[in-house]
Amino acid sequence: MIGTRGTQAVSGLVGARFGDDWWRRGVVYQIYPRSFADSDGDGTGDLPGIIDHLDHLGRDSLDVDALWLSPIYPSPGLDIGYDVSDHSAIDPLFGTEADFDRLVVQAHRRGIRVILDLVMNHTSDVHPWFQASRRREAPYTDWYIWHDGRGIDRRGRPVPPNDWVSWFGGPAWSFDEVRGQFFHHTFLREQPELDWRVPAVEAAQVAMIRGWLDRGVDGFRLDTFNVFLKHADVLQNPRRRGSTAWARQEHLYDFDQPGLPVLLARLRAAVDAYPGTMTVGEMFVGTTEAAAALTTERHLVFDWELMTRPWSAPAFRAAIRRRARAFTDGRWPTAVLSNHDQPRHASRLASPVPGRALDRDAVARAAALILLTQRGTPFLYYGEELGMGDVVVPLEESIDPPAARVGPDFPWWDRSRSRTPMPWSPGTHAGFTTADRPWLRLGPDTASRNVATQSATPTSVLAAYRRLIAARHGVRALQDGDLTLTRGMPADVLAYRRSSPSDRHDEALIAVAFGPDGADIRLPASRRRGGWHVLAGTEIEPVAPTDGGRRIHLGPLEGVILVADR
Ligand code: NOJ
Repeated sequence: MIGTRGTQAVSGLVGARFGDDWWRRGVVYQIYPRSFADSDGDGTGDLPGIIDHLDHLGRDSLDVDALWLSPIYPSPGLDIGYDVSDHSAIDPLFGTEADFDRLVVQAHRRGIRVILDLVMNHTSDVHPWFQASRRREAPYTDWYIWHDGRGIDRRGRPVPPNDWVSWFGGPAWSFDEVRGQFFHHTFLREQPELDWRVPAVEAAQVAMIRGWLDRGVDGFRLDTFNVFLKHADVLQNPRRRGSTAWARQEHLYDFDQPGLPVLLARLRAAVDAYPGTMTVGEMFVGTTEAAAALTTERHLVFDWELMTRPWSAPAFRAAIRRRARAFTDGRWPTAVLSNHDQPRHASRLASPVPGRALDRDAVARAAALILLTQRGTPFLYYGEELGMGDVVVPLEESIDPPAARVGPDFPWWDRSRSRTPMPWSPGTHAGFTTADRPWLRLGPDTASRNVATQSATPTSVLAAYRRLIAARHGVRALQDGDLTLTRGMPADVLAYRRSSPSDRHDEALIAVAFGPDGADIRLPASRRRGGWHVLAGTEIEPVAPTDGGRRIHLGPLEGVILVADR
């Protein structure tokens, strides 16, 4: 079957928008499967639940082009599915193999592609590969990063090979009594790191990738892909000043190694044997420039520039400028404001400083307008289309293992808060589950902040997402156009122009007033030397330009997408 899967014919995509470059022009929606929809009443979301709610993503609602599923493989669940014990199967918690195949078919019938989250840097410690490796059983003997220690300390304990530390706190090495050696783990000790320098490891990963492509999958997110390679001699990282154990090392040797681009090219070539497929790498701890450097014609890389900026026009301008300088020469960026590892942006941006909260829904609408008009593929995180915010989860209910280690030398934001269940309707557990208790508590505002209520409210955040995605799909310049920041705007206005490289008359102008007072702005001339009219905006009835389409008065936190008068 390898290489024979035609984009439309075999995978059954019906009426999908865009061709093989859909992953550049389309909109992707991240689903956190445990929290999306529970169909069997066990309190945890599952694949049939996702199938039941596909219409929310389809043509008559959000109308996204692809969905990305956070891990759905068998796993002890210590890092909530990012500790995989079988990369080629479905965790029974989420349903059956047949449920997965049905999900692909049902998504494709709606023109929605399916992206899987591949965790290839590490496995669970219960994975058969690791179990065989610790017993030195061929062919798995060297599949993990095993090293002897540096002797025995004064208390009689073996000393790790070097002082690398785990991102999840504590040392990055654990001693395995069975094998009598240390193994490396950037995350939990239950997530041992594979050794990608062993050709059989790469071959096994490629075989697994082909298995999913043969099942109709359209692409992959590569979890922490820039950690795949470490220095072959596990050299000590130089020390530097810093406020945490992680920050006190200069991470020269535990990730971002020189062989990575070549390894990536081989992986991408395997995926390229299947037309119309994509990969996006999750950049682990890196700058925008580092993300851009690992981006290629055929491989996207997340950069976190937009995600880390506060709600201010100068901050967003600076982020856009930095991205534009980094992503050049055919390198296509992504655009992301929220994901399962970070605070949700509606909460984060609307509460810039304690005691100075802005209207959260208005900020969510304006942020959506910016996200969906960036140069780059937008990735939405489930619930952001409702303006969902972080939920306060008491530590005893936390589902995020590093949260238990929090302390002065290990600050940690409890990721439970941004992984809470999706509210579908008013009422018990917001229609997420019929169980007495959902796996994780819901937010306090689900009686009004839910899909059913917002669907019936034209002024809602959800209605704005629908309008803005439709606008993006209707204007080529918004999909693949260049981006130029507009000069001469008031300080608290962000404005930029998107213009299609292929059609000089295909252009859009975006303007957003960040401040609570709105802004009166003079619009630059369009390429046709004429005025502009509003295509869509954050408000259901956007303000209209005056002065022959050359001036506009934006309300507080209002944003508009303008197109040139014909
Ligand atoms: C990045 C994932 O996004 C995160 O959720 C996970 O904990 C780590 N990688 C380890 O797999």
